Amino acid sequence: MNELAGKHIVLGLSGGVACYKSAELCRALIKEGATVQVVMTEAAAQFITPVTMQALSNRPVYGSQWDAREANNMPHINLSREADAVLIAPCSADFIARLAQGRADELLSLLCLARPAQQVPLLLAPAMNREMWAHPATQRNLAQVAQDSATVLAVGNGDQACGETGDGRMLEPAELLEEVIAFFTPKVLAGQKVLVTAGPTFEAIDPVRGITNHSSGKMGFAIARAAREAGAEVTLVAGPVHLSTPRGVQRINVQSAQNMLETVMHKAQAATVFIATAAVADWRPATQADQKIKKDGSGQTPVLGFVENPDILATVAQSQHALVGDLFCVGFAAESHDLLAHATAKRARKGVPLLVGNIGPATFGQDDNALLLVDAHGHRELPRASKRTLARQLVAEIAMRLPR
Ligand code: C5P
Repeated sequence: MNELAGKHIVLGLSGGVACYKSAELCRALIKEGATVQVVMTEAAAQFITPVTMQALSNRPVYGSQWDAREANNMPHINLSREADAVLIAPCSADFIARLAQGRADELLSLLCLARPAQQVPLLLAPAMNREMWAHPATQRNLAQVAQDSATVLAVGNGDQACGETGDGRMLEPAELLEEVIAFFTPKVLAGQKVLVTAGPTFEAIDPVRGITNHSSGKMGFAIARAAREAGAEVTLVAGPVHLSTPRGVQRINVQSAQNMLETVMHKAQAATVFIATAAVADWRPATQADQKIKKDGSGQTPVLGFVENPDILATVAQSQHALVGDLFCVGFAAESHDLLAHATAKRARKGVPLLVGNIGPATFGQDDNALLLVDAHGHRELPRASKRTLARQLVAEIAMRLPR
């Protein structure tokens, strides 16, 4: 999608086994449109060669503060002035200690110190053995570099190269890419607590059967991701879907409409924005059998009765929290025709300030969609695009409508 188009990133590698992931990370950054200048410490070059990193970044790698290729012989100044961000991945325990002390006796730490900190942010992707990670000295140094305005990314948990298991693994390249994209996203939802419902619900008939629908959850998951990137604290209440949770989002899995309602009512109390993208089943079986309903060979079919499910969106929109204006509610409408008329009517019926219409058959399971936004002032179309793009546009539209 070229989400990093126009960004120039200095990718710094310090020593650690995780250097093998930096090759993949370099490719991923470039694939998203960034230009990447690799700088390696001497220790990093023990783990992966500058040749590999040069080939992947299509630029000569820098490794020495005495590099005479620069006309003024000041690679630390030149490299740091042209960057939109410096990303150290992997960032070793030793390198964190060096940053905490402001040391400058090799190129990478020198350029970190010499960078104009207000304009060129520093992102660190730590990677080390779990004992090194947990050591008070490392934690003390991390707190110091964070206070000095570095952004310290999380570490993963799992098997380590040394054979031990625990915290300290560098995030995977795809996760780091998500973090870099999120870092550059304008924080239009900073301070907001966003609650999103997504996916279908599953209404059980008996322990092995139930009623559900074709909602994939993609739109809701994309919205949750975009809201988090925009700086919100995000809770995603998801029906049964097989999608991975966006980074930094709290996900709560539910099954039925009633489960979803209970979870949403609980979480809505602290939320400032509620976005209902879930395709909630309108009805559920009136009774749920405790045991599997058996076919008895007589040819007789079971008779199923139904009761209507609660309307989660309307219930939340009528809660005191929303009525006093502390919770901005956004509904969705999946229609097959006359989108504007139906979306306008639905907005009034649900009592929400913003209703987002889409054509159901054209969106279920697809990666792209088109949206029609209806509010008190009229309507606006967001033309066909990927759900990722639409989610980002919708987040911007919601941010514009929030009370200042
Ligand atoms: O009434 P309809 O199902 O068309 O309304 C769609 C909107 O209402 C969506 O935002 C959907 O998430 C929400 N909804 C709900 N609870 C229901 C039915 C729909 O929250 N029981």
